[in-house]
Amino acid sequence: MRFIHTIRRFMSINKDYLPAFYLTLGFLLVNQGLVAYINYTIGNLTDSITAANLTAFGTQLLLLAAVQLLHLATEYQVNYRVNHLSECFVKRLRIHTYKKITNASMKWLDENQLGDIISRINGDLNALVNQINTFMTWQLAGLITFVVYTAACFFIHVKLSLVSFGIVPVLAILQFLTGRPIAKLCEKRSAAEGQANSVFVGLIGGLGIIKSFRSEQHFSQKYNRQVDKTVAANVKSFSLEFLMYPLQILMGYLPNIITLVFGSYLVINGELSIGMLFSYILLSTSAMDSIGSLSWQVRNIYDTIGISERIFGIWDIEEENTDGRLITKATDIPVTFEHIQFSYRPEQPVISNISFTVRPGEHIAIVGASGSGKSTVMKLLSGFYTADAGTIFVFGNRLEDWDKERLREHISYVGQDSFLFPGSIYSNVALGSQHASEERILACIRAVGLDNLNLHTPTGERGVLLSGGQKQRVCVARALLKDADILLMDEPTSALDTESEYYVQQAVKEFAVERTCITIAHRLSTILHTDRILCMKDGQIVETGSHAELMERGGVYKQLYLKQQNEFA
Ligand SMILES: Nc1ncnc2c1ncn2[C@@H]1O[C@H](COP(=O)(O)OP(=O)(O)OP(=O)(O)O)[C@@H](O)[C@H]1O
Ligand SMILES: [Mg+2]
Repeated sequence: MRFIHTIRRFMSINKDYLPAFYLTLGFLLVNQGLVAYINYTIGNLTDSITAANLTAFGTQLLLLAAVQLLHLATEYQVNYRVNHLSECFVKRLRIHTYKKITNASMKWLDENQLGDIISRINGDLNALVNQINTFMTWQLAGLITFVVYTAACFFIHVKLSLVSFGIVPVLAILQFLTGRPIAKLCEKRSAAEGQANSVFVGLIGGLGIIKSFRSEQHFSQKYNRQVDKTVAANVKSFSLEFLMYPLQILMGYLPNIITLVFGSYLVINGELSIGMLFSYILLSTSAMDSIGSLSWQVRNIYDTIGISERIFGIWDIEEENTDGRLITKATDIPVTFEHIQFSYRPEQPVISNISFTVRPGEHIAIVGASGSGKSTVMKLLSGFYTADAGTIFVFGNRLEDWDKERLREHISYVGQDSFLFPGSIYSNVALGSQHASEERILACIRAVGLDNLNLHTPTGERGVLLSGGQKQRVCVARALLKDADILLMDEPTSALDTESEYYVQQAVKEFAVERTCITIAHRLSTILHTDRILCMKDGQIVETGSHAELMERGGVYKQLYLKQQNEFA
């Protein structure tokens, strides 16, 4: 049953709270047991009045006062425990889900749309959090009330209980039958909301392009389609729910009428006292009320099951391998690729049988046509993707044996897309080197020639308030500040003019003395002085050597170089 499955999965991350949960359940049981007992005593009190028994009346009155006091004492405990536990569950749920996202493999991030992920984290997770709070503070208590009061009713009179509670299983079955499609519809609605969100995120991110290509209509149609799907799923689930309403209303008063009629008959027949009928009615009305209010929330419960599936989808994502144990270097050889093969998608090889070694302090460049696999080599080295065959060694340890966080302490990476976070130039450079002194941060910013800008003005979302070249320089400064053993730079100067490029190169030279450096470059003039050049073509390294050696060989590299010279001539 999906409900049990949902509870089980949810509790799997809250195992350590199980004792506290059972204790809370115990308190709830005692609390509601005391209320049931109060109702029972009221019946006895009534009987002592009808029997004009003053002694019994006094005793029952004292008992009532004592139980009432005890009940008040447990009330605080119950409320405190239930709310505290609810907060703990919610906290664990949030932390677990966020952790899963941060550990997500790049493959999962590639395959999922940003808008849908945001929708799951914002919409679905918040809805689930609210539902957990409601469940813990209302529904759980309602369930316990129903169980305890029903047991009390059976204790008072079994035959009467069998007759008046007979309708409950029928309703439960009907609700179970309608609940499943409701959960499916809610899941569909959330998925459509996620898709609508994706379209929206794409729209915001690419508004300039959308406007220039006059694609507003296309995007709004796409968005409307997803919104229509959301509405359709909601309307269907509401109409299913409305089918249940007459039954739920019937459920509210039918058992009471049955109780009154059959109960009166039992009293007249001498099988039940008037006081006990009174207690019975109090208890059964409350029991029916609590199960009734629960059945009104059945849609919410099934909605939660639907939403949970989307959150569990995040829990099940392919995670980065973070269980590597090795945290120290085995040798001083920074990088070795041994017969590496890799493809993003099955049957579409991107890297085929690449082998190379980078020596300590060596500066190498990777060149080659667009799409030849240069960036992929860096992503494999950074541990973002796992090779299909072959082994990558970093400082003598196999990549998969490294603890990924420790591995990345040794690597500074400047990506091809110059990603900046909302904040200032200063905060973007300082990112990842939280303990760096202000002096050093400023030195790095100065080295890439950004000191003429206001370092504390906002850079905007993804750095939109800076020019392409400025963004690149912020990324280079960030990597230089990290001062890791291996510096990976994927086209760090592609958007710079010759003068800025010269400055950045000087900065890299200065900061990366004795550091191992791998640079990807399209403009070959920027890598002429590197120790070694790896020339890639169709996922393979076709030539290796210094600029002079490769020119002499007269192969792919020379062709590339001459072509560029002609372009700039
Ligand atoms: N995340 C991805 N999922 C699927 N395929 C990808 C992905 N990233 C890159 N590719 C494909 O892998 C191949 C190599 O891409 P890569 O980014 O390594 O090329 P590159 O040499 O860096 O090119 P460029 O010089 O244009 O940056 C390309 O054919 C590309 O379409
Ligand atoms: Mg690339």
